[in-house]
Amino acid sequence: MSNRKILVTSALPYANGEIHLGHLLEYIQTDIWVRFQKMMGNECHFVCADDAHGTPIMLKANELGITPEELIQSVSERHQADFREFSIGFSQYHSTHSQENKEISAGIYNKLNDAGFIKKRIISQAFDPEKQMFLPDRFIKGDCPKCGASDQYGDNCEVCGATYSPTELKNAKSAISGATPVTKDSQHYFFDLPQFETQLKEWTKAGHLQDEVSNKLAEWFEQGLQQWDISRDAPYFGFQIPGVKGKYFYVWLDAPIGYMASFKKLCIDTGLDFDEYFNKDSATELYHFIGKDIVYFHALFWPAMLMGADYRTPNAIFAHGFLTVNGQKMSKSRGTFIQARTYLESLNPEYLRYYYAYKLSAKIDDIDLNLEDFKQRVNSDLVGKVVNIASRSAGFVVKKFNKTLSAYAVEPQLYQEFVDQGEQISKLYEARNYNQAMRKIMKLADKANQYIDEHKPWQLIKEEGKKAQVHDVASLAINLFRVLMTYLKPVLPVMAEQAEAFLNIDSLNWDDIKHPLTKHQINKFKPLMLRIEDAQISQVVENSKQSIQATELEKEEDDSMIQIDDFTKIDLRIAKIVKAQAVDGADKLLQLTLDIGEESTRNVFAGIKAHYNPEDLEGRLTVMVANLAPRKMKFGVSEGMVLAASDGKSLHILSPDSGAQAGMKIS
Ligand code: MSP
Ligand code: ZN
Repeated sequence: MSNRKILVTSALPYANGEIHLGHLLEYIQTDIWVRFQKMMGNECHFVCADDAHGTPIMLKANELGITPEELIQSVSERHQADFREFSIGFSQYHSTHSQENKEISAGIYNKLNDAGFIKKRIISQAFDPEKQMFLPDRFIKGDCPKCGASDQYGDNCEVCGATYSPTELKNAKSAISGATPVTKDSQHYFFDLPQFETQLKEWTKAGHLQDEVSNKLAEWFEQGLQQWDISRDAPYFGFQIPGVKGKYFYVWLDAPIGYMASFKKLCIDTGLDFDEYFNKDSATELYHFIGKDIVYFHALFWPAMLMGADYRTPNAIFAHGFLTVNGQKMSKSRGTFIQARTYLESLNPEYLRYYYAYKLSAKIDDIDLNLEDFKQRVNSDLVGKVVNIASRSAGFVVKKFNKTLSAYAVEPQLYQEFVDQGEQISKLYEARNYNQAMRKIMKLADKANQYIDEHKPWQLIKEEGKKAQVHDVASLAINLFRVLMTYLKPVLPVMAEQAEAFLNIDSLNWDDIKHPLTKHQINKFKPLMLRIEDAQISQVVENSKQSIQATELEKEEDDSMIQIDDFTKIDLRIAKIVKAQAVDGADKLLQLTLDIGEESTRNVFAGIKAHYNPEDLEGRLTVMVANLAPRKMKFGVSEGMVLAASDGKSLHILSPDSGAQAGMKIS
């Protein structure tokens, strides 16, 4: 067996909020991978920390009337308690506000500075004259310069989607004091990212990133790399820039260095060799699990910082998508913004670990937690399939055969088939295709249940002379259960531990399953997992609504609003109606042939027959949605949609102003 040395990280959660189910997608994904690596016999360390610096944390502490140190201490305790409950097995959980991080951050900054990668420049920024502090864009509010909407943030308008600089906001106010900000100059320190362009381009194409991520980076390179502002003026909760009074590292500078610092602490506590893992020529492996929202920091700034300071770079960045609940962004008012703690009050953490595994792949697509599907999936797979194998077999062995498995494993081919799947399953874990691994395991579980169904030990036991057969059937079933629980152990560590107790073995190991347990004494079976009841789910939703009301002052985002990105996804075009005709057998539809400036015309069925004579439409210009997925209808495929205004009675298709031509884009 190989013996790789691997260091793995999850992104560091901010120290001003609670862990929620979105965060957990990442920590569970990482933890499964780490547990799997350990089962493969690899040396694998998993480090994380609270991301403790920055303006929001400083202000939150002010608001609560405590010091930032007190705030981050109590948040860290709550974060760690949550992680423990979900069996996230960090080797080390540290804080970016630590001595180790302070030293390594200063060291890296000094190296970058000595090598000429730090530049200084004066910039002007909004300043709160009352609080005597510079205001990050998020802490300035005012009226949008484009549409006039009130109460908008300093960098973009949530109503019309415009982006602008805070100085353009009308009636700007500090969100902290309410004072009108003034503009003030200050010297800032920049990391000169453009100097790394060639190296980074090479690095981002060298197999360290998922395809979707490298494509995104190619776009960023095209837009051109910018110098990165890494300093903030006092007052700021963070580390002072070495030798520069009143200036601090921007939180995102020392956050990824927090990975190193957390590992450093682990090295100090356990005697591991830090340099072996971070020297430029390191033979160890380094992986960062992150969400897709923080790719820029991890795939550009971070490797560049490491290159500039002469450290090794990561082997890979593993990005994942965002969690939605019931198909939508987590929502406080719907009770789907679920905190780890709220979930734990009603539900077993391993349900969620399994469901995430069932959904997660190596892609960066968003992942939906549909609560109804979650319940059914867990009940059917874990309770109905896996646990069932043991629960319907254990009784015979315990009661009729003195808890002892039979001497001979019957059906060696069936057992062997289960063992043989191990190699495929391990490849799927390694490649983070947990979803496919879970499907393979559940197929095997189906097979095991079929085997029991076919042999009906509950009938055999009543028949004369069939006792030995019952013993063999039940013993094989328990051995198959053992194989499955071994495969599921990275996902379900607690259930695996209970299975170990039931099977009366030290631990479920990938290597051991080659040989079935024979003449081996097991223990009495206790139910390993209960079904999820509807009431538990509704309780979580209800409690989420309440806990949010109690702890969160943030305003709910209006769900009927869309962002500019949503809008620009719609490809609206001017279309010329070249032909319009009635459709045989359809009394509401007209079939339109539309020219939108492409080589071939589009065929669209529109429900407008009651309002127009087909002849009158021919030759007219209108507006169509050109990128609507084709829909198969009874009369043919509809390749788009024509826009019309209606009050429910009359209907009027839209026409452009004169001068417009077929194929023009609408924006
Ligand atoms: N503090 C930074 C990370 C610094 S790493 C050097 C941060 N913190 S966070 O608390 O906002 O997010 C922590 C991780 O959780 C990120 O990888 C983020 O993408 C992930 N998630 C936060 N909300 C999420 C969802 N709703 N869904 C999936 N992952 C999400 O970013
Ligand atoms: Zn606006």
